[in-house]
Amino acid sequence: MTAKFYITTPIYYVNDIPHIGHAYTTVAADILARHNRLKGKKVFFLTGTDEHGQKVEKAAQEKGMSPKEHADMMVENFKSLWTKLNIHNDAFIRTTDSEHMKTVQSILKKLWGKNEIEKRSYSGWYCIPDERFWTEKEVIDRNCPECKRPVEHIAEENYFFLMSKYQERLIHYIEENSLFILPEARKNEVLGFLKNNPLGDLCISRPKQRLSWGIPLPFDDNFVTYVWFDALVNYYSAIKYLINPHTHPSNLVSQLSALGSEDWWPPEHHLIGKDILTTHAVYWSTMLMALDMPLPKNIFAHGWWTVDGKKMSKSLGNVVDPNEMVNTYGTDAFRYFLFREVPFGLDGDFSEQALIKRINNDLANDLGNLLSRTLTMIEKYCEGKIPRMPSYDIHGEIDIQREIHLKGLVEDMNEAFDLSMERLSFGHALDKIWEILNAANKLIEDEAPWSLWKTKNIDKLSSVLYTLAETLRIIAIYVYPFMPETGQKVWQQLGSDEKIGNEIHIAWEGLKPGQKIRKGAHLFPRIEKV
Ligand code: ME8
Repeated sequence: MTAKFYITTPIYYVNDIPHIGHAYTTVAADILARHNRLKGKKVFFLTGTDEHGQKVEKAAQEKGMSPKEHADMMVENFKSLWTKLNIHNDAFIRTTDSEHMKTVQSILKKLWGKNEIEKRSYSGWYCIPDERFWTEKEVIDRNCPECKRPVEHIAEENYFFLMSKYQERLIHYIEENSLFILPEARKNEVLGFLKNNPLGDLCISRPKQRLSWGIPLPFDDNFVTYVWFDALVNYYSAIKYLINPHTHPSNLVSQLSALGSEDWWPPEHHLIGKDILTTHAVYWSTMLMALDMPLPKNIFAHGWWTVDGKKMSKSLGNVVDPNEMVNTYGTDAFRYFLFREVPFGLDGDFSEQALIKRINNDLANDLGNLLSRTLTMIEKYCEGKIPRMPSYDIHGEIDIQREIHLKGLVEDMNEAFDLSMERLSFGHALDKIWEILNAANKLIEDEAPWSLWKTKNIDKLSSVLYTLAETLRIIAIYVYPFMPETGQKVWQQLGSDEKIGNEIHIAWEGLKPGQKIRKGAHLFPRIEKV
């Protein structure tokens, strides 16, 4: 049976518009989804929005709207950005979807029935922006220890998920499953926390008189569900109704897949930022343990973007709008930059200057010039048609060692590239691509095709130009998950009408001699602004 690949992003709060951080996680998931589709896997890539809770309710109130009206308006900002960033998600979940709400309620009922939930009186400090309680000891001068914003004192009766009893089991699970939390440093953070602090129980309700914007508890109508409990369940509720061909006939996955909804569980990756690692690694894992469900295979918590060395914030006015970046520099350049500039997992700093530098050096010079030089030479020396590769027989008249070397590099990269992608080492995967681009550019310098033309060394010239064109055809496939339009443009300019889509044709000599090339505009014109 074909392997399945289920990948998720966090579902983003609709209290504000998306910025570079949201774009980062979603593009990462898109890259992995595209790569795995090319590998022939059945992919389900889920993203969506988190629409309940106090913070979202407050944002709606401030605009004089109902939370649902407000969410309906805000969700469009995410959807349109994903279109702009060429995100091919298979489904988009909203926590206000009635099917999702039903699943949350049925899970609550199940846990209530299993005595995993208890009612207690409670007092604590609540941080609205983070949507979580802190204890007296944890707050610092009435401020949230995490985001440093003021907290509110709250005393009330609530329902608790008995999370504490899973502490030892969770420690054990994390220790036994080395790929469960990545990167390694994040796993150690979670383990350190679990080993050195008693795990409390999790307050999973809010009294309706304080917060009405939430999913009612199925066993007590005076309460709504805590937004994080509601949100985390999205990963499971989505496979129950968003893959269903009856409710979603246009869904690509449902058409391709004979998998039943439960077969999609567990996900291969939950991609998240490091800010929400505890909620995923601890809350969600223990919820799944209580439900007797398998845990996700991997939770990957990536690093944090700052801008010009500073934390992004509205008050500093330095929030990077991905829409603007795409309008100015293009989707592919922006996507590339995010994963080239910073190793996935570490924190990174965004600056437009660094982006421009990457565009000029890596994309315009190394990739764009390689294509345009190769095609110009094919136009000039081969009547605009892909030349025929002479036999690889090195005992023949011509020495084609350098072409054989480049072909070898291209053929050998597959395994290393796949391994890097499996480890989410996007930087290493891109290194591999750039090694080949550099080698191809070097082949041009070393062999100087213009001299071969002058001396009428046509066999050798054909060998060099075929090797370059075929390298570009294959490299386009590797580039495609990162820069889908660029990969496709390379194929078009090489004269191919095929879509780089659901399968990889990486075997050498895929390019047909005689194919008419269609040299077009430079892939990445240089940017002169400083
Ligand atoms: O936390 N750098 O939603 P959210 C990198 N609704 N990534 C960033 C970032 C930055 N500066 N800022 C945001 C929530 N992100 C919950 C999630 S999931 C069941 C519920 C990304 O809108 C990163 O992925 O605050 C982070 O985890 C997420 O946006 C938080 O999005």
